[in-house]
Amino acid sequence: MATANRGQWSGKTAFILAAAGSAIGLGNIWRFPYTAGENGGGAFVLIYLGFVFLVGIPVVLAELSIGRKTEKNPVGAFKALVPKSLWPYLGGLGVATGFAILSFYAVLAGWTLSYLYGAVVGIYGGPMTGAESQDLFVHLIGDPTLTISLTAVFLLLTVLIVRKGVSGGIELATKILMPMLFVILVILAVRSVTLPGGLEGLEYLFKPDFSKIDGGVIMSALGQALFSLSLGMGAMITYGSYFPKNENIFQAGIAVALFDTGIAILAGLIIFPALFSVGVAPDSGPGLVFVVLPSIFGSLPAGQFFAVAFYALLSIAALTSTISLLEVVVSYFVDEKGWTREKAAWILGATCFFFGIPSALSNGGAEMFTTNFLGTGLSFLDLNNVIWGNFSLTIGALLLCIFVGWKWGIPAAFESLESSGHKLPGSKLLGILIKFVCPIAVGIVLVYIVATQQYF
Ligand code: PHE
Repeated sequence: MATANRGQWSGKTAFILAAAGSAIGLGNIWRFPYTAGENGGGAFVLIYLGFVFLVGIPVVLAELSIGRKTEKNPVGAFKALVPKSLWPYLGGLGVATGFAILSFYAVLAGWTLSYLYGAVVGIYGGPMTGAESQDLFVHLIGDPTLTISLTAVFLLLTVLIVRKGVSGGIELATKILMPMLFVILVILAVRSVTLPGGLEGLEYLFKPDFSKIDGGVIMSALGQALFSLSLGMGAMITYGSYFPKNENIFQAGIAVALFDTGIAILAGLIIFPALFSVGVAPDSGPGLVFVVLPSIFGSLPAGQFFAVAFYALLSIAALTSTISLLEVVVSYFVDEKGWTREKAAWILGATCFFFGIPSALSNGGAEMFTTNFLGTGLSFLDLNNVIWGNFSLTIGALLLCIFVGWKWGIPAAFESLESSGHKLPGSKLLGILIKFVCPIAVGIVLVYIVATQQYF
């Protein structure tokens, strides 16, 4: 299909906001705090940061270089670079992973809608104990009709934007709302850190206890770094494919990575002090953020206002991420199968809803999906989160680095990144990271995990 029909971001800032919109989402605010809490806090955070810089940033740039060069979806991109090879299957894995992540991500995003509703009707305006908040949460996520309906609503919103295409829908949502989210997060962090007992939370978050590190912790940190930056499944290939030819893509990529990581740390600054203050255990699992936050709002002046603003912005942050997940799948069907954008968005959104139903029933809605799914000790949703969110992204990122470093070649990748005429700073280091450090580091983690079977 002709490039002219694919759309393009209106400029660098628009790209940064859209890509940051993809990166910043429930991964930062829901997944990062609970994963850090389950994996012992400070040591996990340190390893996560290490992976962001050693693996995350190089992979962001590697994906962008492919997208910009080929101006294609992940499958089409590999077909264009190495036709008649197995590499397009790596793109296919990315498309499948995007679809699978969307199916459970939309369920969690649905929870935020319900909290938004709760905030609007004034449930979080006054003081609330940890136990009360926990009750409310369990009640919500265990209600099958509610969770399934909210998943549907969230996917519907996603489809409505994706069908409109790149600059019309996606840009608009991110331009004003991302900066607003940032401001609210800073206010909440200040409130949380100054709560009685808050400092204990900071210590937990930043003081590494190295005895807590094992294979599972390292794998979770790597998975989290990739998940949070939307890497390993071609989202950045797709978004990079809409990047205007004359702008500095390197700078944009770095900005996105730094924003995303900053927001995750900010979320940590909100959750951990508050959690120690109200006496919720850091390793309470995926419900952590949802249970802890209401207790902060109650202690703020104008708590209801902050609650409404926070949940509204969180829902939007989640939406700009689900948009990118669906966009990867849609761009594949539009470019490769010749579907119209409209048709692809509706059909894929609806299909994803059906695949999401077991995840919506994973927290009490249906016993078989809730506890110990297939003997793994996890719920259906949590298992999907590990399989797609950790393993598939990790395998995707590993193969991508091998592709760029050893098949397509660093010079070709750099030529693509520099095609706007902006020279790449630190290109030697970046080449070494993509070619050697990333594949070796990620490869070792995967081999170690399989050898020791510490999958979760
Ligand atoms: N990065 C998003 C978040 O943190 C989730 C995501 C993962 C989006 C992979 C696209 C691709 O919420």
